[in-house]
Amino acid sequence: MNRIVYVNGEYLPEADAKISVFDRGFLFADGVYEVSSVLNGKLIDNEGHLTRLHRSMNELSLTPPATNEEIETAQKTLIEKNNLDQGLIYLQVSRGVADRGFHFPENTPTSLVMFSQKLNILESPYAKKGMTIITVPDIRWGRRDIKTVQLLAPSMAKMAAKAAGADDAWMIEDGYITEGSSNNAYIITKEGTLVTRHLGTEILAGITRKAIMRLAAEDNMKIEERLFTPEEAMDAAEAFLSSATTFVTPVVSIDGKTIGNGTPGPIAIKLREFYIEEALASTK
Ligand code: PDD
Repeated sequence: MNRIVYVNGEYLPEADAKISVFDRGFLFADGVYEVSSVLNGKLIDNEGHLTRLHRSMNELSLTPPATNEEIETAQKTLIEKNNLDQGLIYLQVSRGVADRGFHFPENTPTSLVMFSQKLNILESPYAKKGMTIITVPDIRWGRRDIKTVQLLAPSMAKMAAKAAGADDAWMIEDGYITEGSSNNAYIITKEGTLVTRHLGTEILAGITRKAIMRLAAEDNMKIEERLFTPEEAMDAAEAFLSSATTFVTPVVSIDGKTIGNGTPGPIAIKLREFYIEEALASTK
């Protein structure tokens, strides 16, 4: 791999892109991140991602390392320097370098790191065959609305899925599904209602989720933002998930129980098409 990576204002070959061992992102997972998808060399829904980045920083008293305009310019420069046609731009803000101590250091400049990753989002095999999901206890902290880099619990959830021969995991708290390991979770009831958990501190307010909800409303779908159980999900007509890297991806089984007829459902397929159509149009 020989990408060009952004580190605190510099564009460097990835072998030279380095952060101090004293960076609090490394020592305390004291940092936040965003993942924006890229189609046709253009950022998708980036304004939403940068707005959420700002909110995450604000909730943790992190000083923005740059303005949103400067960040977007750097994202676009990375796309260009890496000839990225389809994939993602990852960006991370950490509290920066300080001698180890639990209190936030004062007057320490925050670090900003960004890199690109190629990914075939449009032709993902899961779009056609759907994903198999297991459920796992949600062992994350209580501020999941902040997009922090503490991703050990989701990594463990994905490893549990892999060990079970499944594609991903949805997390459960107090008997209700919160969200996926790195995505938002939805079901379509037998009556055709789209159900997804309401926003709050228990889940991340997905940028893709916001677009999906708008597209569903524009299509006159009935929508309920409320709690739902794994049992209700297993009994649903359809299930699917969303994120910047998966867009809308159908779910065909949960804990071994087939959803619908075991193939991607028509509403999930339709919402994926709507989202892709709008995303591609925004690149023109
Ligand atoms: N994850 N919920 C969680 C816990 C997530 O990590 C993500 C995104 C989402 C979906 O948010 P959005 O639609 O804004 O991507 C929901 C990214 C893709 C990641 O960690 O790679």
